[in-house]
Amino acid sequence: MSQCRVGIGTSQNPLEMPTTGNSSAAADKARDAVGLLFRATFVACLMGSMSLLLFSSFNPSADSGAAYWLRLPNGILSQAGWSSAEYDGEGESTNISHIVFGIGGCVQSWPNRSRYSTLWWQPDLMRGYVWLDEEPPKASALAAAENGSIPYRISEDTSRFKYSSSKSAVRIARIFLETFRLNLPHVRWFVMGDDDTVFFPDNLVTVLSRYDHREMWYIGGNSESVEQDAIHSYGMAFGGGGFAISYPLAASLVKIFDGCLDRYYRFYGSDQRLWACAAEIGVPLTVESGFHQIDIRGNPYGLLAAHPLTPLVSLHHIDSVDPIFPKTRYDSLRSLTSAYRADPSRTLQQAFCYDRARKWSIAVSWGYTVRIYPSLVAAHLMETPLRTFKTWRTFSKGPFTFNTLAVETQPCEAYAVYFLDRVQEAGRSGSLTSYVRSMDGPAKGCGDAPHDRVAVVERIVVSSVKMDPKYWQKAPRRQCCEMGDGGSIRNGTLRLRIRKCRSSETMTV
Ligand SMILES: *[C@@H]1O[C@H](CO)[C@@H](O)[C@H](O)[C@H]1NC(C)=O
Ligand SMILES: *[C@@H]1O[C@H](CO)[C@@H](O)[C@H](O)[C@H]1NC(C)=O
Ligand SMILES: *[C@@H]1O[C@H](CO)[C@@H](O)[C@H](O)[C@H]1NC(C)=O
Ligand SMILES: *[C@@H]1O[C@H](CO)[C@@H](O)[C@H](O)[C@H]1NC(C)=O
Repeated sequence: MSQCRVGIGTSQNPLEMPTTGNSSAAADKARDAVGLLFRATFVACLMGSMSLLLFSSFNPSADSGAAYWLRLPNGILSQAGWSSAEYDGEGESTNISHIVFGIGGCVQSWPNRSRYSTLWWQPDLMRGYVWLDEEPPKASALAAAENGSIPYRISEDTSRFKYSSSKSAVRIARIFLETFRLNLPHVRWFVMGDDDTVFFPDNLVTVLSRYDHREMWYIGGNSESVEQDAIHSYGMAFGGGGFAISYPLAASLVKIFDGCLDRYYRFYGSDQRLWACAAEIGVPLTVESGFHQIDIRGNPYGLLAAHPLTPLVSLHHIDSVDPIFPKTRYDSLRSLTSAYRADPSRTLQQAFCYDRARKWSIAVSWGYTVRIYPSLVAAHLMETPLRTFKTWRTFSKGPFTFNTLAVETQPCEAYAVYFLDRVQEAGRSGSLTSYVRSMDGPAKGCGDAPHDRVAVVERIVVSSVKMDPKYWQKAPRRQCCEMGDGGSIRNGTLRLRIRKCRSSETMTV
């Protein structure tokens, strides 16, 4: 890689996913609403009577207290005005404007990589900079800005610091510090990444809003490749996958950071320096498995198609792995982000359908891919990543920080692969995603094999209701999937519906 290669970090870890099905989203919704109303009314009566009693005895504003509780049954569905009267801005939930991004870049790679930032950067909504080692040529800076990429800043000179392997690691490590010193208002989180990191900002917000930004948090992921975690640290957020530091932790780190840079000059990456410094404060890494370092080689298909049951936050090492779709890297990411925009929370989430009549199993990774297996496959197998990739450092079969399944040696028997083709919003809160059969997936070249029993399916259309980000505040549960149109295949098209599972529903074969 280029000499300005920074190795902010190395890796992260994957595992499983959720899903939805949708026998009838409307019926589901109605059921939910009735249940909620019933429970809310009960709670409201109970609380209302208790609080009325308390409030009227002790509180001069008893009226507003009573109104608050009694309003709950109606307000609970929208949640809109829930907290506005109760809290000042500090207590309100985290949104994108509370985050500032610090991206490690260099002038050499930026002309190429600025394109990746245009996939996720929203100039009107977000704050942050890519930090370069020197001023870029005017023309390329202008082009990048016009294309809507993240604005740049030039890093301070770091030549006074010692280093052993990479000079730029020092510069990149100091990005959070330079960002902190910009003194931007209302910052709750500093989020760091590389110039080849693609963020999914809505999901980043969903994940960070689960944490109290007034405490000291260090949140990210480690490497998928055990060799990398063993060499660096399991306790370190690998920087390319992105990581978040809450404001109070950043404030503490800033005070000791330049000293840390000299104390830990032997480390390879910027992320390892930051980890060592956080350890002096005593703050450990909180692992969130939606941050993806992508410390793997080859085809990331298996990893992405079996995403853990948590929102997709980031993807790194775009240029180091094969394109995730059978098209260019940039176009691949454009496809994935088009699905993400339609339903951020659901991106890559799995759902499994069984076609019991045909004895097929169907694994949907929403917004990305569908696999049809011409046999009944247990859920725990479909949620285990297929080993379509190798380790980062030694190009080995493993080990990874998660279990993998060997890709079938006779792929034509094993499954057929479909990739996202189109995304369509449906109604106010739903979407239709369609997936077309691919000859380029891991089951390459099987499409016309006479024994390929699923060859009749050319397109799969999946309907689902937009997943509420609040889904991720609950105990994780994969959503359910069912065959649409009674499982009929019309004109080569199979229809599926993803929806919340009923409480007693299971995927049993
Ligand atoms: C984010 O929350 C703050 C309150 O803390 C609010 O003033 C602001 O309008 C919100 N921004 C967005 C984009 O929702
Ligand atoms: C830019 O990216 C293209 C395509 O990935 C690659 O062929 C080219 O060498 C890159 N240019 C530089 C200067 O890195
Ligand atoms: C800007 O966008 C145009 C059109 O998509 C593309 O050809 C060009 O390479 C982009 N330039 C940069 C610096 O991203
Ligand atoms: C059947 O599929 C073909 C190709 O996918 C399409 O052109 C045609 O319009 C479809 N016919 C119907 C009735 O949907």
